[in-house]
Amino acid sequence: MDNLLLTIDQYKTDINNFIAPNSEAAETFRIKYLGTKGLVKELMGEMKNVTPENKRAFGQVMNEFKVFAEAKYETLKASTSKDGQASADEADLSLPADALPLGSRHPISLVRNRIVSIFQRLGFAVAEGPEIEDDWHNFTALNLPENHPARDMQDTFYINQNPDWLLRTHTSSVQVREMEKGKLPIRIICPGRVYRNETISARAHCFFHQVEGLYIAENVSFADLKQTLYFFVQEMFGKDVKIRFRPSYFPFTEPSAEMDISCLICGGTGCNVCKYTGWVEILGCGMAHPNLLDNCGIDSNKYTGFAFGMGVERITMLKYQIKDLRLFSENDVRFLKQFTAAV
Ligand code: PHE
Repeated sequence: MDNLLLTIDQYKTDINNFIAPNSEAAETFRIKYLGTKGLVKELMGEMKNVTPENKRAFGQVMNEFKVFAEAKYETLKASTSKDGQASADEADLSLPADALPLGSRHPISLVRNRIVSIFQRLGFAVAEGPEIEDDWHNFTALNLPENHPARDMQDTFYINQNPDWLLRTHTSSVQVREMEKGKLPIRIICPGRVYRNETISARAHCFFHQVEGLYIAENVSFADLKQTLYFFVQEMFGKDVKIRFRPSYFPFTEPSAEMDISCLICGGTGCNVCKYTGWVEILGCGMAHPNLLDNCGIDSNKYTGFAFGMGVERITMLKYQIKDLRLFSENDVRFLKQFTAAV
């Protein structure tokens, strides 16, 4: 009996060490230990040679051994079956992979590209600049010196490491950088992400996207500005849309204006989108302030220019009748997948 226990212990170690990389190996295990000519059966057959007083103990040891081998077999089977981990030689590696669903462009990108391409057709070139700006390019050069009250309207995020650095509040900073290069005339369009310290709501966010434009040359007039923006609106929203300019204030333009378009929803008769005025504001604009030109080293006696800036979210919301700004940054595919068609 003692001999038998020793032998069984050895078998158990063998069983424990048995590795089955695939289901054939698991089957080999089954045949070897649990098959009709397997070890368990063979040892059971020894019962006839066991003395009557030992039969009971022998039976117990053998039963326990059988259960042990069966448990191991179940583990091997599970780890090599297709439901468990597929083993390398069972997987057909020549099969093509599952197709990944194709994404679609973000509505902000679609509309930004459309805006940019309209202005490119008028000869505007794309200019880009850093999102982390310094005070000079974002404010001071733009006729917004320190302590200017208009800075309040564009509160932003500052960077601890250097109080001169901030997240740009508009892409006008790119216009400054372009003017400082001193190559005239300038006819640029500046798309990009901007930041403001705003409480997030359906109508405001701490970041959004702008496209700003700048044209500086000799004899540029307000009529050129109006005609350029009129062309843009007709291309973007259709021939029937009307525009109007309202006097406004920006430190870097003089005179300044805000431009409205006739409401796309009600056609100008009045609805809750246009707050029953028939008009919706889409951008700010004006003639480049002489101080701005001088700050950037451009002779303001010789050159004039115009600038304008619009929010891409705003245009997108009007274009697609989207009511909540937060949808643009929540990344919900149910929202995003609706914008596959070009605008
Ligand atoms: N930079 C202004 C803003 O972000 C927009 C603007 C640009 C206004 C150019 C006038 C001229 O609010």
